[in-house]
Amino acid sequence: MKRILTGDRPTGRLHLGHYVGSLKNRIRLQDEYEAFFIIADLHTLTTRPEKTGELKDSIHQLVLDYLSVGIDPAKCTIYIQSQIPEVAELAVILGNLVTVPRLEKMPTLKDVMRDAQIQTPSYGLLGYPVLQSADILMVKANLVPVGKDQASHIEVTREIAREFNRLYGEGLPAGRQVFPIPEALIPGDIGTLPGTDGKAKMSKSLGNVINLSDSKEEVKKKVMGMFTDPKRVHGDEPGEVEGNPVFVYLDAFAEHGDPKKIEDLKRRYREGTVGDVEVKEYLVEVLEKFLEPIRAIRAEFEKKPELIETILKEGTARARLEAQQTLDEVRRAMKIDYFSQ
Ligand code: TRP
Repeated sequence: MKRILTGDRPTGRLHLGHYVGSLKNRIRLQDEYEAFFIIADLHTLTTRPEKTGELKDSIHQLVLDYLSVGIDPAKCTIYIQSQIPEVAELAVILGNLVTVPRLEKMPTLKDVMRDAQIQTPSYGLLGYPVLQSADILMVKANLVPVGKDQASHIEVTREIAREFNRLYGEGLPAGRQVFPIPEALIPGDIGTLPGTDGKAKMSKSLGNVINLSDSKEEVKKKVMGMFTDPKRVHGDEPGEVEGNPVFVYLDAFAEHGDPKKIEDLKRRYREGTVGDVEVKEYLVEVLEKFLEPIRAIRAEFEKKPELIETILKEGTARARLEAQQTLDEVRRAMKIDYFSQ
């Protein structure tokens, strides 16, 4: 069975944007592929090495987010990156197969430095894509479902994998190379949910998110404060539906509402016969249909912290076996397997 690997840095609660862009897809993919979901705690060190005290709780919350939306540890492997030393070992090896200028050119480096107000990148931050390559190649993933902002990292991973195969598998047929060349699986534009403030992307740092774990009251407050059509002043003026965040959300969660009702609201909005408040109230209703069961599952798992611990331990043990196998192969191919017969 083909393998996928994707995951998240444990930096806070997941929101509706994560669901639409990624989690929803993962729930489907875990049925079709052998799925690995990495909790990339080592990657958080690249921008916040001083925040390690928060990691345990962030990891716990991340797993709760996963389980509450239906990621199922019986179908997939959820694991903690830092508890697999082979990841770090592989990253050291792979770091020699990519140049510094190649990493300096990464568009994500510029973005992260701007957002985190970093003047000069650390060695670790520059190496972020190398560590990610180690994650991906460690489990020999065939497919890597990521947002389009991560596409450049998968491209570097492919280059590194090809370079490894070329250097250490010269002349071997493709099927006998150590690393399969992974492919990115990137959602289309519908995969990006705008923020509640109308900005192009829902993002924690912009403070425009609705979290999967938000209470009913929080959801209501956030929706009622959402940006709509900025050109429309009164509810009796014709308004714009396309690109209007309230309608983008209604479309994204249409399966939890009534498609006819959504079409009707759109028509009346274009005509100028429905106000923002009525549309927003309906959006609250639709989001509640979606979020209520998620909250209930989360509450169940919150009562069982030992279960979360077990899921992580078992997942990490399973992923580590893969890691050890891959590292054995890597050392053999490189002829640095001195003490094995
Ligand atoms: N860099 C990814 C992100 O910020 C997280 C991540 C780490 C990842 N390792 C990975 C994603 C491996 C896919 C595969 O979203």
